[in-house]
Amino acid sequence: MDFEIIHLQEVVSTNSWMLERGTTSSSVGIVATGTTLVVVADYQSGGRGCGTNRWESERGKNLLFSILLHPLELPANQQFRISMAVSVALCEMLSQYADGFSIKWPNDIYWNDRKICGMLIENRLAGTLIRDSIIGIGLNVNQRAFHSDAPNPVSLSQIVGHDVDCDALLNDFLSRLESVSIRETLCFDYGNKLFRRGKQAVYADKSGRFTAELKQVIPDGHLVLLDDKGRERLYAFKEVQFIL
Ligand code: BTN
Repeated sequence: MDFEIIHLQEVVSTNSWMLERGTTSSSVGIVATGTTLVVVADYQSGGRGCGTNRWESERGKNLLFSILLHPLELPANQQFRISMAVSVALCEMLSQYADGFSIKWPNDIYWNDRKICGMLIENRLAGTLIRDSIIGIGLNVNQRAFHSDAPNPVSLSQIVGHDVDCDALLNDFLSRLESVSIRETLCFDYGNKLFRRGKQAVYADKSGRFTAELKQVIPDGHLVLLDDKGRERLYAFKEVQFIL
């Protein structure tokens, strides 16, 4: 996969920039065969998190970027494959620096019980297929203090004890994405890296808190928990909260 990387000093949001300006190219599977557009920013004045959340990032300290992928014939009901590929590629890249990285369903990257990376994937559909996918990634790299109300942030420099080059991380991630996305073992690899997999922990859904074991994530992206009464519970994104 070839990438065209546009570097901006400041933008409202790299995802919004891509939504407005990005044009698509041809592709195979979830991987573009033409040039894939990537926009990176030193600072976002209105970085977007999931839902109505903001994404806090100190100017020039972290890796903030969006990729425009144009999948060829990826059905909308298989869109979770994109989340899996990006999450596995990020987790494997970070695991070169330390132990303790995992994927918190659906697509946050955690180091132990602290969040190092979030992603905002915005798919545009053409009928039942994904026309294009904007993958926005915020990776905390060199920020040492966090001021927003995000519960448990951590950066790579806090983990390894020194600054890390953001461009090198971006290139490393991009070089992994294609091979991870076409891997036969992608679902298996994603499952093996899940935060809390096989462990008892506390969750909350619309009926309140409960204790359960995280069993697996099925290929369409639903989370399977086994509660302490031996019942399997199936959740879509946002239907259940991890109590940390
Ligand atoms: C989350 O809430 O966990 C998702 C955070 C996603 C943040 C990234 S930073 C680059 C891209 N541009 C945005 O506005 N958001 C994503």
